[in-house]
Amino acid sequence: MQIIRDIIALRAALADLRAAGGGVALVPTMGALHDGHMALVEEARRHARHVVTSIFVNPTQFAPSEDLSTYPRREATDAHMLAEAGVAILWAPTVEQVYPDGFASSITVGGVAEPLDGAHRRGHFAGVATVVAKLFNQVQPDIALFGEKDWQQLAVIRRMARDLDFPLDIIGVPIQRDEHGLALSSRNAYLTDEERQQALALPRALTS
Ligand code: PAF
Repeated sequence: MQIIRDIIALRAALADLRAAGGGVALVPTMGALHDGHMALVEEARRHARHVVTSIFVNPTQFAPSEDLSTYPRREATDAHMLAEAGVAILWAPTVEQVYPDGFASSITVGGVAEPLDGAHRRGHFAGVATVVAKLFNQVQPDIALFGEKDWQQLAVIRRMARDLDFPLDIIGVPIQRDEHGLALSSRNAYLTDEERQQALALPRALTS
């Protein structure tokens, strides 16, 4: 697996993959990978010969009060997991690569992006839509995969891709849960034992 941080090197590596034949799947992530992400990679491999996974903790989707500085980062472990899973390229751009000096563009999605998280996390979905659009342009995949855990995010990305004519298929992958039924999430790392117990009320409510 190649680990690439520079857009010129990414384009060259992608050209080689395409020359070898077979489709390219993109699995966008913010790292701190768990079995939920690995299910995306596994599904990606079923659809395309080459899988590109991105790891980028996207600053524009965090509100000032949120956890950008403490968001779990463990790229070496993530890279190992991705290489074992047969990923061809780990695209891990720097913040400067994604948001060069003077960056001044943003994609605002209306409708589905407005209620729920859209109402409570100001600017969140504009940050997500903008970075995902950039990732689509950078990698130009045939398909991209996202977890159904972030259901509204998936709907926003589908809307944005359709509205902006991105020529790719978006595949949603079902939620992965731990043995107690808790949905896997990188942010579960923040939970104390007590909070983890409290969180189990959610899967219980959904299945009772
Ligand atoms: O779901 C995530 O990990 C992120 O929101 C995404 C889609 C990679 C965009 O930064």
